[in-house]
Amino acid sequence: MHAPLLSPSLLAGDHARLADSVRVVEDLGLARIHLDIMDGHFVPNLSFGPQTVAALRPGSKLFFETHLMLDEPHRYIEPFIKAGSNLVCIHIEPAYDHAGTLARIRALGCQCGIVVNPGTPAEAISALLPSVDLVLVMTVQPGFGGQAFRPDMLPKLRQLSAWRRERNLKFRLEVDGGIDLTNFADCHAAGADTFVAGTSFYRAADRVAFAAAFARLG
Ligand code: DX5
Ligand code: ZN
Repeated sequence: MHAPLLSPSLLAGDHARLADSVRVVEDLGLARIHLDIMDGHFVPNLSFGPQTVAALRPGSKLFFETHLMLDEPHRYIEPFIKAGSNLVCIHIEPAYDHAGTLARIRALGCQCGIVVNPGTPAEAISALLPSVDLVLVMTVQPGFGGQAFRPDMLPKLRQLSAWRRERNLKFRLEVDGGIDLTNFADCHAAGADTFVAGTSFYRAADRVAFAAAFARLG
């Protein structure tokens, strides 16, 4: 239904030269970049905040997809939208008003997404599916780049893809964590149309060929 999109994760870029790492994505003709935000609580790591997103915004026309790995994401929606995010996605696992927060993201003119960790079943987000532009299925435990893809997440993708079809919904279905040229086709076959790639993208010997492989899925 959706054309396949590769969304490189800036987490694996050069943090001394983040603007250059964004430009690499844009120069390849890609449309989207994935921005990982970590709070040291929901995940055992820290990355960067809205000030960095705002600093990168004027130099790029890319669609900024901001993945909030935060215990209290509802407290940080406005700063990340003001900073120039085009989509903000929030996890289902912490306790807060998920539906209200998704609605607030939309009301601020931004796309919204819901994210599920490997240990969280698809059922946990079933009721929210009509309210989101994106469903992100974590294919590693979030917190660090460079981890191994978990093939046991494929049934969850198939389930979400089936619900999308049966309920005539339009959300994008994205995978994040350990995605590379050995597993992206399996994710696509299971229903994913949007692919985060950090380590495999930035370390690719031939990024043109890497991006082309994803484009060919369409
Ligand atoms: C994991 C992050 C991912 C990460 C992916 O916590 O949400 O976006 O950057 O990196 P790779 O592709 O290296 O697994
Ligand atoms: Zn991410």
